[in-house]
Amino acid sequence: TFAEDALLETCAGNANVERCDLVLKNCRVATMSSAQSNLPYGIIEDGCIGILDGKIRFVGKSSEAPVADSVEDMKGRLVTPGLIDCHTHVVYGGNRAAEWELKLKGATYEEVAKAGGGIINSVAGTRKASANELADEAKPRVQAMMSEGVTSMEIKSGYGLEEEGERKQLLAAQMLGKELGLKVKKTFLAAHATPKEFAGKEDEYIQECIRMMKVLHGEKLIDCVDAFCESIGFTVAQTDTLYTAARELGLKTRLHGDQLNDFGCGELAAKHGCSSCDHCEYAGEAAIKAMAAADVVAVLLPTANYFIKEKKMPDVECMRKEGVNMAIATNCNPGSSPCCSILLVMNMACTRFGFTPEEALRAVTVNAAKAMNVEAEVGTVEVGKAADLCVWGTKNPCDLSYYMGYNSLQKVFVNGRLR
Ligand code: NIG
Repeated sequence: TFAEDALLETCAGNANVERCDLVLKNCRVATMSSAQSNLPYGIIEDGCIGILDGKIRFVGKSSEAPVADSVEDMKGRLVTPGLIDCHTHVVYGGNRAAEWELKLKGATYEEVAKAGGGIINSVAGTRKASANELADEAKPRVQAMMSEGVTSMEIKSGYGLEEEGERKQLLAAQMLGKELGLKVKKTFLAAHATPKEFAGKEDEYIQECIRMMKVLHGEKLIDCVDAFCESIGFTVAQTDTLYTAARELGLKTRLHGDQLNDFGCGELAAKHGCSSCDHCEYAGEAAIKAMAAADVVAVLLPTANYFIKEKKMPDVECMRKEGVNMAIATNCNPGSSPCCSILLVMNMACTRFGFTPEEALRAVTVNAAKAMNVEAEVGTVEVGKAADLCVWGTKNPCDLSYYMGYNSLQKVFVNGRLR
């Protein structure tokens, strides 16, 4: 078709392909390339992917496959980019099932937090554990996420709220990436809640966050900085102070924003050039327009919205109209989203937030990569990117969002190697 020809033309670098290490032939490739917009999923029928030195070296038709040391026939199955879970708090100690029981009896997320529960509850469990213990606790959760095709993941700190606790979480995140062959980006979220030691002294705690950030950045443990800007978190002014310091260090920023109130977070994220503003249920038109203008990704979190029984849905229609890129993620955490299933998140983005299945797949590939600042390396099937690929036991990309509790993943390649 014309659209497919246009897509293939954009696969710059296909010319003069030398011998590949591996060629996957006869694939239905959902490239998720944004180089063209009129071909759903950037699909290439009877497609072929050539891999050299862990990177995608050729994307095109099977009939034009380059020579390779090894050729695998995918028998018409769907191949997508490796999935990306761009917002998780998967490393923590203990769990909060007891709190959930209270919430089932009617307490709200905010009430539990104000009564001394919530995030602070997970701080005690996290402070007690060593980095190794935190990694061990998180490992089965991370493996569950990987079993559904996740090849890149963001992991936040934010349950230590003091230097050693934050360090342990970031170290645990790093260990998990190394041990499991997962691409991990580590986000410093000390401004997640005010620890008891600083109760009523939020401005002082923000200064402490800045001090910790400098130390942990010096130890190369921080890829990005985040904060919970909310009535039960930090004010816009406090977050602004932290992000100004983060940017002076050359650190990238993201933001937990407009989850429970329209708090001015879209505008704040835009002001600081954050790669994403996450949650966004209460982001109004002004916030959304500001995000669109500054190219801030809206990371929407359907399982958290469901789990805390939030009635307000993000204004997806307005985000579409304004051209905001939307990503989704598990937000795996012990309080608002004990969820380890990116496929369930895709389903719920469609059923609860009104995404199309194509938007849902875009939200866990190309747009998630952008939220995590890794779009140059992963997120689409395009020449030059890492050969992180999922092979599914279906031909139809819609199936990934359609099923609940069924996972058709058959194979995963990371840097061109079978995982
Ligand atoms: O993204 N909103 C703030 N942080 C988490 C919740 C963490 C928790 O409750 O432990 C979130 O939903």
